Amino acid sequence: MYNIGVLVSGSGSNLQAIIDSIQNNEITNGTIKTIVSNKKDVYALERAKKHNIPHTVILRKNYNTTEKFDESILNHMKENKIDFIVMAGFLAIVGQKLINSYKNKIINIHPSLIPSFCGKNYYGLKVHEEVLKRGVKITGATVHFVTEEVDGGPIILQKAIKVKQNDTKESLQERVKVEAEWKLLPKAIKLLTDDMITINDNKTIIKLK
Ligand code: GRF
Repeated sequence: MYNIGVLVSGSGSNLQAIIDSIQNNEITNGTIKTIVSNKKDVYALERAKKHNIPHTVILRKNYNTTEKFDESILNHMKENKIDFIVMAGFLAIVGQKLINSYKNKIINIHPSLIPSFCGKNYYGLKVHEEVLKRGVKITGATVHFVTEEVDGGPIILQKAIKVKQNDTKESLQERVKVEAEWKLLPKAIKLLTDDMITINDNKTIIKLK
């Protein structure tokens, strides 16, 4: 059984999708050992409490440097014997130390079809705003491994959804979550914890059952 650490910053609806997937026995070889938020008072922490999952807040402002902040997350993960880290709507950029210590063991969900609408300035509603501005007809979500390049790591799963004529950035954000993110992230965690993913030449290979 693998230990999973989940990083959050917001409402935690993706976290909820993971919790549900474990409760429904879809993910059978992984358990959430800790939830770390970089923001106080976010709803993700309420979800953690409700499900009796250990949780903590690690604030960037309590550290002088990004490296120290990063180290604090790393130490917490190590203390909890975490095998895989899942960034489920985590809005801080993680540093080199954590990435190197958990090479090919950190995954992230991004609300677009990478390599479109991704990278440093694309987060939250901004992604959906740019999608609407560009007038693309299809968007979606991507789960990928985390490397030093923001949103640049090997892609694990993607799901496309149609952009509707009357979509607002808010409605699109919601539909991408419901129709793509909440399905993809638990699926990717299942693949990961069932040892179904290998990486070759910056690309993932998913074993077929
Ligand atoms: C999601 O859209 C995720 O893709 C993005 O931040 C949002 C987090 O939502 N990185 P939630 O906190 O899981 O509800």
